[in-house]
Amino acid sequence: MLRVLIFIFIVNNINGQPDHHYECDVRAFPEGFLFGTATSSYQTEGAWNKSGKTENIWDHLTHTQPYEILDHSNGDVADDSYHLYKRDIEMMRELGVHFHRFSISWTRILPTSFPDEINQDGVDYYNNLINEMLKYGIEPMVTLYHWELPQKLQLMGGWTNPNIINWFADFARVAFELFGDRVKYWVTINEPYQICNEGYGDRNMAPMLNVKGVAEYICTKNLLLAHATAYHMYDREYRSKYKGVVFITCSASWYEPESQDHYGAAWESNQFTWAQHLHPIFSHTGDYPRIMKEKIAAKSKEQGFFRSRLIEFTPEEIKFVKGSSDALGLNHYSTTLVYKNESVKHMYESPSFMDDLGVGMASVNDRQGGGMVDDVPWGFYNLLTTIREEYGNPPIYITENGFSTKAGLVDDDRVTYYRGYLSAMLDAIEEGSDIQAYTAWSLMDNFEWKMGYTERFGLYEVDYNSSDRTRTARKSAYVYKEIVRTGTLDMCYAPDLFMPISIDEGH
Ligand code: NOJ
Repeated sequence: MLRVLIFIFIVNNINGQPDHHYECDVRAFPEGFLFGTATSSYQTEGAWNKSGKTENIWDHLTHTQPYEILDHSNGDVADDSYHLYKRDIEMMRELGVHFHRFSISWTRILPTSFPDEINQDGVDYYNNLINEMLKYGIEPMVTLYHWELPQKLQLMGGWTNPNIINWFADFARVAFELFGDRVKYWVTINEPYQICNEGYGDRNMAPMLNVKGVAEYICTKNLLLAHATAYHMYDREYRSKYKGVVFITCSASWYEPESQDHYGAAWESNQFTWAQHLHPIFSHTGDYPRIMKEKIAAKSKEQGFFRSRLIEFTPEEIKFVKGSSDALGLNHYSTTLVYKNESVKHMYESPSFMDDLGVGMASVNDRQGGGMVDDVPWGFYNLLTTIREEYGNPPIYITENGFSTKAGLVDDDRVTYYRGYLSAMLDAIEEGSDIQAYTAWSLMDNFEWKMGYTERFGLYEVDYNSSDRTRTARKSAYVYKEIVRTGTLDMCYAPDLFMPISIDEGH
């Protein structure tokens, strides 16, 4: 492995975590390592009611309660990728990425929510997208569920209705049948924590159900069973024919103790948040983390419930969910400090997930970039190392990582973020973590959910005032392109922004 180390210095940040700074270091990624970009359907496609597509929960929320979105915007047009997908693929070619991750809008291919009617226009759109990507050697990585539940299913309880297991499995079957011959990477569900905790136990995401301490746990159990059902279906009926991989993508922030007195609080935060989903699938127990089960059962009893609000798995369900993922899809953005003291006792509504967890949270460095993500690369290293040690080193695809800024083409903060996080990831790889792919979120600016278009995550900037939603490469796009082209991370590479970003031969 080529590694030219010119100058290393290690500083200790506020928590005594080593921060590795490799100034002008050039570090190589492993042979065969894959780089990609990501988007999702609601955030980019637009055409919300074109060609037979029906309403999903984000259409419903943005149309009925526009004031819930910071800039009162919606995804009706978004980046208009439904019409401009060829330009998107041109950008992927400019970057030279090996794969691109996008999602399928459920109601665009199944307008009734069910498989009784398949919308040919929707199918044509995804066929065109997939075929055009493959024409240029870009592998499609397809997410089945990136938060766009059909509104009709929400009316019937959405993820709190156990029938969702079959509804989702039917949708997955239709997608495997239609696209499985060409799609080899399938993400079943994106970010269970955001779906259930933020959408059902809080009001940060659609459907903003906010039935705290109850709905998120019902949602999580149904979601994990739905995921496992789709996984086993592929395994049984499609794998030998199509030879793809199927996995779930979980979000994981890293929780760090505010000081050494708070290790327990940090450990519990990691257990309650991301280990909630990793444990049932990747641990030998096949169940929720023990601390979660114990704390929620005890609290529930204290509160007068007749049983734990955390809906436990039966022994059969444990067997069914355990091992139901060919890899771990991991979305990681940032790190939060946690503490536990007397003040925390009455900090949260009761019952609620946060009350069950019972810790206080603070940000690490006050968002120096001005956006919603704190740049804390060492947290990524800690997370990856912990997953390697706790779960027997599962194969990992980083399915999202990225930084948000305000508009502007010279995005030095994003460049610094990407370099720091890629370097932290390389540290973990060099210590043995089995990380096989990295995905930058996002290919271009898009609808950032309740933040509307105010937070921009794109390697390409999108001009929302232009009718063709003009996409322009930012500095970070040039930097990422060079990383993909060389398979190395050069901490001092300075792109020439006056040269147009062009498509290299072979792309
Ligand atoms: C995770 C989500 O999957 C994606 O939709 C979102 O835009 C990014 N995080 C950034 O918040």
